Amino acid sequence: MIKIALKNIKILSFLNKVPIIRYFFILKINENFQNIQTNPVLEKFYTDIYVKNKTSKRTANNRFTDIDKISLRYLDKEKINYIHDIAVSSGITSDNFYEYLKIKNIPFQMDISDKYAQIFVKKGFTTKVFDLDNHLIFAYWGAFFAGDKNIFFPLSVLLYKIIEKYNKKYDADYALYLFHPSILKKIADNKINVIEYDIFQTERNKKYDFVRSMNILNKGYFSKSKLLTAVTNIKDSLKENGILLVGRTNSKGINNASFFKKIANKLILLEDVNNGSEIKDLILNA
Ligand SMILES: C[S@@+](CC[C@H](N)C(=O)[O-])C[C@H]1O[C@@H](n2cnc3c(N)ncnc32)[C@H](O)[C@@H]1O
Repeated sequence: MIKIALKNIKILSFLNKVPIIRYFFILKINENFQNIQTNPVLEKFYTDIYVKNKTSKRTANNRFTDIDKISLRYLDKEKINYIHDIAVSSGITSDNFYEYLKIKNIPFQMDISDKYAQIFVKKGFTTKVFDLDNHLIFAYWGAFFAGDKNIFFPLSVLLYKIIEKYNKKYDADYALYLFHPSILKKIADNKINVIEYDIFQTERNKKYDFVRSMNILNKGYFSKSKLLTAVTNIKDSLKENGILLVGRTNSKGINNASFFKKIANKLILLEDVNNGSEIKDLILNA
């Protein structure tokens, strides 16, 4: 089976509501991508995209209502909290967090990051989408979608492998950020700051009071040693007494998360939400 790519948002919105059929269709990206406001179409698009290290870009509006509320307990009401939201995908959950903190009158500055936020597109009958490191993320061959990972759509994966094999070099026609319009607006208004950040490599020494890392430090994505490297790196980016929130949204939509505090270069457990993070032990030993 192969996925069909369409540009028409109205048709996609309609198809999105049809059980089973909806899985056969995906948005065909174009220069207008950053103006698309239709959340269900966008959410479906991100769900179907896997980046080079096989992590999904899946995210959803209001995914963290519960943990946003709990996060409030760990933020200072009197002075500016420097916040970093890691691996945000479309950034819609950062937008939710931002709006919630504003309502609650919390003073803060927010950095957001995602290693694969920026994409580079080469147009043509075969439209190719690359990341910063020149890796093909996904492509379209006419109306057919080519993606790196999907057990239910093996022909889309095969098409991806063929296109990837014969397209090592590229010169992009345009580049864009895969952020939601609401986040793009906040970036343009200097309300939110985008930084380049790779969980395994980027150093941000003792910069943040609160770091959130949701749905990226997952056992299903990375080996124990890779996770340890990332956790140590993220820990270094926290100030003394800084807070780390790590978690995963499970298949039922429940957020299994834990809050930690950095004390004397160790992370101490403060609180588990819904049984806590699946990598809690690894974090406590980092
Ligand atoms: C499942 S999404 C999480 C989105 C959002 N945090 C949420 O929970 O709804 C995972 C994101 O991690 C990003 N990512 C993958 N590898 C990364 C890395 N090495 N450093 C930073 N971000 C990475 C992907 O681009 C993807 O957007």
